[in-house]
Amino acid sequence: MSFTRVASLSDLPTGALLAVVTPSGERICLVNRNGEVSALSDVCPHQAFPISAGQLLDDGSVECVWHGARFDCRSGALRQGPATDDLPAYEVRVEGEEIHVNVGAGDNRGAPDGAGW
Ligand code: FES
Repeated sequence: MSFTRVASLSDLPTGALLAVVTPSGERICLVNRNGEVSALSDVCPHQAFPISAGQLLDDGSVECVWHGARFDCRSGALRQGPATDDLPAYEVRVEGEEIHVNVGAGDNRGAPDGAGW
């Protein structure tokens, strides 16, 4: 496990998506859904568009703005094509105002709803 600070809570208002890059170069999309922070890969598995350029929908899906693929904002599980793969999800810890992401996992381990276990 390797938790890395990637942002502050003040950078991520409710309903927002935020692109961050870890010191090791991983592109991550932070999500704030009703105050719950999650972290997904920021690279759409369809054609690599940034997920953070999309939007968070009311049903808890993150929608890629390019071709409309949708993923669960917590687990990264695919909900709608044209993508055919899940988004990797990262474990998140919020300590005070700071958001930390486990960049040592890089898959669905630790995803809040257990997808990929
Ligand atoms: S690049 Fe995301 S749906 Fe095509």
